[in-house]
Amino acid sequence: MTFRKDARPVILTGDRTTGPLHLGHFVGSLRNRVALQHSHRQYLLLADAQALTDNAHDPGKVRRNVLEVALDYLAVGIDPGVTTICLQSALPALAELTMLYLNFVTVARLERNPTIKEEIQARGFGRDIPAGFICYPAAQAADITAFRATIVPVGEDQAPLIEQTNEIVRRINRQAGRDILAEARALIPEMGRLPGVDGKAKMSKSQGNAIPLSASDAEIAEAVNRMYTDPDHLRVSDPGRVEGNVVFTYLDAFDEDRDALNELKAHYRRGGLGDMTLKQRLASILREIVGPIRERRAALARDPDHVLDIIRTGTLAGRERTKVTLEEISTALGLFSLDGQANGFRARSALGLGMSPPTLGGEGGA
Ligand code: TRP
Repeated sequence: MTFRKDARPVILTGDRTTGPLHLGHFVGSLRNRVALQHSHRQYLLLADAQALTDNAHDPGKVRRNVLEVALDYLAVGIDPGVTTICLQSALPALAELTMLYLNFVTVARLERNPTIKEEIQARGFGRDIPAGFICYPAAQAADITAFRATIVPVGEDQAPLIEQTNEIVRRINRQAGRDILAEARALIPEMGRLPGVDGKAKMSKSQGNAIPLSASDAEIAEAVNRMYTDPDHLRVSDPGRVEGNVVFTYLDAFDEDRDALNELKAHYRRGGLGDMTLKQRLASILREIVGPIRERRAALARDPDHVLDIIRTGTLAGRERTKVTLEEISTALGLFSLDGQANGFRARSALGLGMSPPTLGGEGGA
């Protein structure tokens, strides 16, 4: 398989298939992906294998959400004509690369990864950490490098994983004696992550503080009404605080009329601007963003076979792409090759290759 020369930088990113995506994902990374898909060669991973590392007890959830996440991608404007969507578990080269990379990272380093540490805490694993889970940073390094990606659009919580990927890249390059792999850069939105509607640092479905991309107008209104503003802003005439005010954080993320927003902030600080006015503005902006996404999603959901076709086509392309990289890295690391070329004549003649189909059952046979 050869690839057309394509000078565009390669993007790879993905999402665990544990639930439909929400506005936090939209701000954190989906918006970037839609904006960059024409100027870059973009691959997206439906990360079901990674989802399994902490959901092995519930594979049905992981399986069912593959289609949900794919629907979210398409609904926000990912164009399957230019972006390749792949199913992670159907790319065997990723698993093989992971096995190689695990030899270039220590258990202590995996345990020190800040993202992993936080997730172990959040999941209450204690000492009973699934080995697949603690090792997933090596798998994520495989995901990124298998596509030879240099740009990885992710939320800020993923930065330590990209750092660890680059450590593995440097070790592989040192062992190979040349720069067989390129380092990658995390593309993180300036505003940081979107807080939950309850003001908690992270929007997350499991916390019940998320606005899904398929939210109805009523759900949006309900979520916005729940938002925490400034607890000291009791009367409309009181001066209010903008910093730490969740409604303003959301307006910062979604309101494109910057002048109007700055005027609103000044007015709020002076006093005389009520929370209801603010919340109505935010609800109306969110309705305009989510409405078309929700409608496209519903239309696509009526034809799951079409979505499945998109995933299938993307996965076949991804399979070729990742297989080529695996072969290049295996060769660069000096592994035994059944093609013979790289091994020296001793290995070749010892196995009797080239005479008859190889049997790997040992010398001489029974
Ligand atoms: N870890 C990411 C998440 O939790 C998902 C993911 C899997 C990913 N493989 C990746 C992200 C490769 C970026 C690059 O959402």
